[in-house]
Amino acid sequence: MQYQDIFPKVISHAKEYGFVFQSSEIYDGLSAVYDYGPMGVELKNNIQDTWWRAMPQLLENIVGIDSAILMHPTTWKASGHVDAFNDPLIDNKDSKKRYRADVLIEDYIANKLEKKITKEVTKARKRFGDDFDEAMFRQTNPRVQKYVQKIEEVQGRFVAALESDNLDDLRQLIVDLEIADPESGSRNWSEVRQFNLMFKTQLGATTDSASDIYLRPETAQGIFVNFLNVYKTSRQKVPFGIAQIGKAFRNEIVARQFIFRMREFHQMEMQYFLRPGTEMESFAYWRAKRKAWHQALGLPAERLRYHTHEKLAHYANAADDIQFEYPFCFKELEGIHSRTDFDLKQHQEFSGKKIQYYDPELKENYVPYVLETSVGLDRTFLAHMCNAYTEEEVNGQTRTDLKLHPVLAPVKVAVFPLIEGDGLPEIALDIFTQLKYDYRTHYEDGRDSIGRRYRRMDAIGTPYSITVDHDTKSDGAVTIRERDTMQQERIQIEAIPDYVRERLSIRTVFEGM
Ligand code: GAP
Repeated sequence: MQYQDIFPKVISHAKEYGFVFQSSEIYDGLSAVYDYGPMGVELKNNIQDTWWRAMPQLLENIVGIDSAILMHPTTWKASGHVDAFNDPLIDNKDSKKRYRADVLIEDYIANKLEKKITKEVTKARKRFGDDFDEAMFRQTNPRVQKYVQKIEEVQGRFVAALESDNLDDLRQLIVDLEIADPESGSRNWSEVRQFNLMFKTQLGATTDSASDIYLRPETAQGIFVNFLNVYKTSRQKVPFGIAQIGKAFRNEIVARQFIFRMREFHQMEMQYFLRPGTEMESFAYWRAKRKAWHQALGLPAERLRYHTHEKLAHYANAADDIQFEYPFCFKELEGIHSRTDFDLKQHQEFSGKKIQYYDPELKENYVPYVLETSVGLDRTFLAHMCNAYTEEEVNGQTRTDLKLHPVLAPVKVAVFPLIEGDGLPEIALDIFTQLKYDYRTHYEDGRDSIGRRYRRMDAIGTPYSITVDHDTKSDGAVTIRERDTMQQERIQIEAIPDYVRERLSIRTVFEGM
């Protein structure tokens, strides 16, 4: 099966094995809101644990916080979210469906133009074999050049319309490119309008607009408003970072692609405070470091790429996305943003409090610049689910296997007695009890066939399954089966903790990074 075709299978697998459920499903669900089931919560916790370890635990100049979701409403005035956190929306008058105008254009570039270039390159690679020089081909092939020119032209108009906030030009571009409603094929478009993505609610019992507050649309502002508190209490010197994992909320209009775009989601963000002028060096460093983190956890290099923002946000002087190739296409997984001193200066102005750092080397005060790394936990989860999902033929049957990195696997070890009785469950339960304090371990009795128990572990990504059989009673050894290779080896019961520790050590994941 082609990778591009697996997405519906990943979604049904996620439900069938308790990874992800639609929120409030018994009431027909709530669009773009999801719940994580027993396996999902373990995978999600493991991803966030590895992020936290890579940040405040392994880097001495990074500290963590956990700030509140509800913040003073002036925060969002200062950050620019009240005035500018908008999506340009367009309605199709025939299908009555609503779309993000910018996404329609981005999808046009990706699906109509970039895909054609990839096709030409793939064809030529087949034709020329080992002698193929891709860079040269891209530079000289007339058809590729035509598509490149078209991309540049579309992007030029797109960026100009966004930068000048010209919604009429944005609509005109959609009309000129003959972009059709992806569902109905109709080209009967409305005007483009701006729509603010923040969820508004009321603080306390009053309902006048003075008590309007927002659910945070990003965790970053909780870090900025705590800059002084953290700097004064943690004895850190610039450059240092503040890391946070938490929920963010956006009233996404176009909610698609399962947990890729949600209305309630988790972000893992780190704001790195720096001396002005050093931000580009830091940008290059974190851009590479964050991609290496994704790779260390098993996302392959060929499914990751950088994407430079065409239109920079009002606060940024550089911004790249790390994109992952989901089955539907390459899409943003993480943002690396050089945010200058915009946020701290804005909070300084709106709060009237001096937010500055005294640099003992330069002997001067300044507002630090900020380099941000911002990754969606749910998007990382989805990337790993898609990347790990595998179907293969084994003895004439289809085996579904989640080839997750062992440190991410929801269950690390399964322990089985081969059958019920003959003293085997007692030995297996003893091994299970030895392991469960250190690893998420699963015990299952011997009533079902061992083959079916292995298959269930493959489907949730359990890397090691241990079976106690009749010989165990005489030789004190068990069989350990490895998920991906299905190879089995016999080891002594006393050797199990070392066997598992060596393979699940987080040190081996990060040491080479
Ligand atoms: N503080 C910067 C910031 O919030 P962003 O690019 O809007 O930047 C950062 O978001 C990351 O958060 C994205 O790369 C993505 O992984 C995740 N994210 C954003 N919106 C999301 C949504 N609606 N659903 C799931 N994840 C989302």
